[in-house]
Amino acid sequence: MVAWYSFVTIFILYFHGSFQPFTTMSVQKEIKRVTTHTLHEFKAKGTKIAMLTSYDFSMAGIVDQAGIDVILVGDSASNVMAGHETTLPITLDQMIYHASSVVRAVQRALVVVDLPFGSYQGNSRLALESSIRIMKESGAHAVKLEGGSEIRESVERILTAGIPVMGHLGLTPQSIYKFGTYNVRAKEEAEAQKLKEDALLLEKIGCFAIVLEKIPAQLAKTVSTSLQIPTIGIGAGPETDGQVLVLHDMLGINKEFRPRFVRRYAELADVMHNAVSSYIADVKSRDFPNSGEMY
Ligand code: KIV
Repeated sequence: MVAWYSFVTIFILYFHGSFQPFTTMSVQKEIKRVTTHTLHEFKAKGTKIAMLTSYDFSMAGIVDQAGIDVILVGDSASNVMAGHETTLPITLDQMIYHASSVVRAVQRALVVVDLPFGSYQGNSRLALESSIRIMKESGAHAVKLEGGSEIRESVERILTAGIPVMGHLGLTPQSIYKFGTYNVRAKEEAEAQKLKEDALLLEKIGCFAIVLEKIPAQLAKTVSTSLQIPTIGIGAGPETDGQVLVLHDMLGINKEFRPRFVRRYAELADVMHNAVSSYIADVKSRDFPNSGEMY
């Protein structure tokens, strides 16, 4: 009798639309946390991956709540947060400080942290120690390293600890003094060939994704289609599996920096300048605070 009532109830709910079998429910469930597996599923389904940088709690919270897939705590913090000319001066301790602030704000996105210059090159033991410090002290989910075959040993050693690794090829800003300029990389055949081989190597040894920075769009397309793992482009055209921008560039906080690959989604420097000017004027004119803004 009880079983019969249950069957009728489920039948009515099903036609009413409020009953779903468990299999359908789990498929339709909202993504809770983006993981490296989610990114692989995105690539398989042809869903583009959206990634942005963040370096602090307040910004990371806004970016995460807007629904970004991946937050990169980039060593570009050296430029945009600290005002250095290059990414080289930022330290591991400073990266951990930025990363832990970001992690405290994030509920959904995968948080990837750059290993800073000098914390992994040429020494795989140091690379592992640096990565463990980042994961333990910040609570981030993955690390990113610049380079291909030169850093193979470091990448392999980090992976032995179960730490997911994102690669970064093309214009790798930690090598700026080797390149001499921030111009497009891999326009010549030899460099393009090495980049293709490095991408395959990084996939083979276990990287879960690769950033392709400032390379010809056609090369980025060739690399992206040759890999099972996703590529995330910056200045690499539309055929990579995802896109990344520096948050301060796309929000127009960095007014002077206007390379072709940055699309400005806001002019926050102007908005902030006007807000600060109004505040100064209100203080000087004694308009602020008024009777409703005091105790
Ligand atoms: O540090 C950074 O912001 C980066 C991106 C430009 C990919 O590495």
